[in-house]
Amino acid sequence: MVAEKDVSLRQLDFILETIKKVKNLPRRLSEVKKVLETLYNFYRPEGLSFVGYDEVERRMYQIEFGKVDRNIVDKDIETLDTIRELKAFDNIDGILPVDNYLIPVYFPSGRLVGLLRLFRKRKLNRKEFSLLKASAELIGGYLEINGSARGLLAALIEAQDARIPIEAGHAKRVAVYAEFVGKKLNLGEDDLVDLKQAALLHDIGKLAVPDHIIKKPGRLTPDEYAIIKTHPVVGARILEKSGIFAHISKAVLHHHERWDGAGYPGGLRGENIPLFSRIIAVADSFDAMTSDRPYRRALSWEEARKRLLRGAGSQWDPQVVDVFIDGMEEIEEIVV
Ligand SMILES: [Fe+2]
Ligand SMILES: [Fe+2]
Repeated sequence: MVAEKDVSLRQLDFILETIKKVKNLPRRLSEVKKVLETLYNFYRPEGLSFVGYDEVERRMYQIEFGKVDRNIVDKDIETLDTIRELKAFDNIDGILPVDNYLIPVYFPSGRLVGLLRLFRKRKLNRKEFSLLKASAELIGGYLEINGSARGLLAALIEAQDARIPIEAGHAKRVAVYAEFVGKKLNLGEDDLVDLKQAALLHDIGKLAVPDHIIKKPGRLTPDEYAIIKTHPVVGARILEKSGIFAHISKAVLHHHERWDGAGYPGGLRGENIPLFSRIIAVADSFDAMTSDRPYRRALSWEEARKRLLRGAGSQWDPQVVDVFIDGMEEIEEIVV
C-alpha cells in the first residue's frame, strides 16, 4: 500500500515539475488575434490574414482582417504542405510583385507553423517590413507556447484516462457539456476557453488518490470516500502551482459544491459558488449518471434529466440546469 502511494506522489511531482516549466506564459489564442489586430490598425492594409496549422487539433485555421484574397485561401490552404508551397512562392525575401507580402511564421524551435499575409496598395518601406517580420516571430512564439499548454493539457487528460479507465472519456464529455452551457449563457471567447479547460481538468486531483482506492471495483468505505473527496483541493493546488492553469483553479476547487451549501470543500452556497464550478457540477453529474459504474448501470438520458430537474435549486444552480435541459437534444447531436 505504501509503495502504491509513493508511485502516485512521484507521478504528481513529475507533473508539477513539467507544468512549472511553462509557468506564466501567454495561454490564449486570442493574444495572437490581438497582435494581428494591432498590425491591421498600424499598416492599414487592404487585408491581413494569418493561416496556420493547429498541431493539437490537426487542422488548418485562418484569422483574417479586411479583404483577403479568397482565391488563394479557398483553393489552396488545406494542409501544412500548402503552406510550404506558398512559402516557396515567397521569392524575394517575402515580397511579391503585387504588394502581397507573405511572411512564413516559425515556432522559435524552428518548425514552420503558418503564414502571415498582408495586402496593401502602398509598398512597405524597409522599416515597416522588418516590423512585420518581427511580428511574425512574436506570433510564432505565442503559438508555440499556446500549443505547448494545450499539448500538456491533452497529455494530462490522457494520463488521467489511462490511470482511471472506468472514467475514461469523462473529462472530455464534461467539457463538451460545460462548453455548450457556457455558449448558451453568452460567455465570451476567452471565458469559454477557460471554462472548457477547467472542465477538462476538474478531476485532475484524482491522480493523487492511491490506486487501491481509485481502482476499487465496488463501493467505497467512508474512509476511502473521504480520501476521494480531497480531489478538488489537490486538483486546485496542482493548477495553482502550474501558473499556466492557475486562473481556473477556483473553478476546479469548487466543482463539488452544492447550490444549497451542503457540498464540499467550502460549503459555499448559491452564487457564492463560482459560475464555472456551477456549470461543471451539472455537466459532471449528468455524465456520471449516464455512465456505467462497476456497481450500477448507466441511467438513460431521460432518467438523468428527471434527476437534474429534481435537484435544481438544491444540488444545482437552477438556471444552469434549465439551460442544460433546454439544450439536451442539441447536446445529444454533438456527443453522439
Ligand atoms: Fe470531481
Ligand atoms: Fe468528474
